[in-house]
Amino acid sequence: MKIRSIKSVDVDNKKVLIRVDFNVPLENGQVSDDTRIKATLPTLQHLIDNRAKIIIITHLGRPEGKVVEELRLDPVAKKLAELLGKEVKKVNDCIGPEVESAIEELQPGHLLLLENVRFHAEETDNSEEFSKKLAALADLMVIDSFGTAHRAHASTYGAAKLLPTYGGFLIEKEIQALSQVMHDVERPLTIIMGGAKIETKIGIMRKFVSQADHFLVGGGLGNTFLAAEGFDVGESLYEEDKKAVAQEILLEAEALEDQFHIPTDVVVADEVKEDAKKLDIPAEDVMGDMKILDIGVNTIKKFEEVIAKSKTIVWNGPLGLFEMDAFSRGTRHIAIAVANSEAKTIIGGGDTIDAIKDFGIDLEKYDHVSTGGGAMLQFLEGEELPGIEVIREGN
Ligand code: 3PG
Repeated sequence: MKIRSIKSVDVDNKKVLIRVDFNVPLENGQVSDDTRIKATLPTLQHLIDNRAKIIIITHLGRPEGKVVEELRLDPVAKKLAELLGKEVKKVNDCIGPEVESAIEELQPGHLLLLENVRFHAEETDNSEEFSKKLAALADLMVIDSFGTAHRAHASTYGAAKLLPTYGGFLIEKEIQALSQVMHDVERPLTIIMGGAKIETKIGIMRKFVSQADHFLVGGGLGNTFLAAEGFDVGESLYEEDKKAVAQEILLEAEALEDQFHIPTDVVVADEVKEDAKKLDIPAEDVMGDMKILDIGVNTIKKFEEVIAKSKTIVWNGPLGLFEMDAFSRGTRHIAIAVANSEAKTIIGGGDTIDAIKDFGIDLEKYDHVSTGGGAMLQFLEGEELPGIEVIREGN
C-alpha cells in the first residue's frame, strides 16, 4: 500500500493542519507517558525544518462533546515544547476567532496546538459543517495519528477529505511494519493475545486462526476460551456472551495440530489483592469462588518454547493481572521472552506497553511498538482504515 508522503509536498510558508494522536495519560496535571508525543517528533521536525506554519490537532480522552477542564491540552503543549526545545502556542478552542487570529500570526516553522477537538460533539459525529470549519484553517493536511486511524471523525477523516492530505513519518512506519505481518511474513508466525475483552480481538483471531502458525492466549480472553472449552472458571473475569464465538474459533483451531494454545494451568486466588493466598493449579481444577488471575508455570514454559522458535511475533494484551505483583509473573516472563527472541517482534495496545514499562524492560528491545491499540488490531484484520484511506495514493 502506497501513501502520499509528506516528503512529496512543498510546505514552505503553508498552513499545515496536522492530526496527531496525543491521547496520552495525565497524572496530577502532567503528561505521565510521552511515548505518543515522541513518536510524532520526526514529522513535526520535518515541518519545522521546511518552514510550515504548523497547526496541531488532537483529541484527549472521551469528553463526549463537552468541555472537560481536566482534558484540556495545556500539559500536552508544555511537554511538546519541552521535547522540541521550542515554543508551542496553545489556544482554548479548535475553531473560532481566537484560533483564526492565532493562525494569522503564526510564523513559518512555528507551532500552534489547538484545544481538544472532542470538546465538540461534531468531531466524533464527523459533521460535514465542522469538517469544513477545520479544513478552512489550513492549506493542506498531514495525518500522523495511527492510533486514531480506525476512527472516521471530522479531524481524522472529514476534514482530510476536503484538503490535499499527506501521511507523516509515524503513520508510514506503522503501515510498513504491520503490512509485513500480512504480506511478507517470516514464519513461524506467533500471535499472542490477552487482555480483558474478546470483542476487539475476535476479528483478528478469526482472520489469523488459520494463518498464524501459533496462537498463545491468556488473560481474561484466555478465561473465555477456557469456559468455551467447558471448564469451570469459578469467579474469573470472562465473557459469557462470547463463549459461542470462542467455541467457533476453537473448532476451527482443532483442525490445526498443536497451534492454538490456551492455558493448561493457571494462578488462582479467592481475592484480588497482593497478599491473597494463591495457587498454581491445572485449569480443570478451577472451581467455586476461585479467580484466575495469571497463567501458570507450565503454560509459561509452553509459551516460552513457542516464542523461542518463532520468526515473527505479534503481541497484544497482558496475560494476567500484571498491575499486581502477585499476578504479574506470566506477563513478565512473556515480555522478557519476546524481548529476547530473535524474531521480528511487534507489540501494541496500551496495557501491553504499560506492562512492559512497569517491568523496566526497554521498549527498544522490540522491533516495532505500535502507537495504536484498536487501530493496530483492525489494520491487521485487513480492513481499510478511514484515517489511512485519506492518505492512500490514488484516493
Ligand atoms: C487510542 O488511545 O487508542 C486512540 O487515541 C483512540 O482513542 P479512542 O478509542 O477514544 O477513539
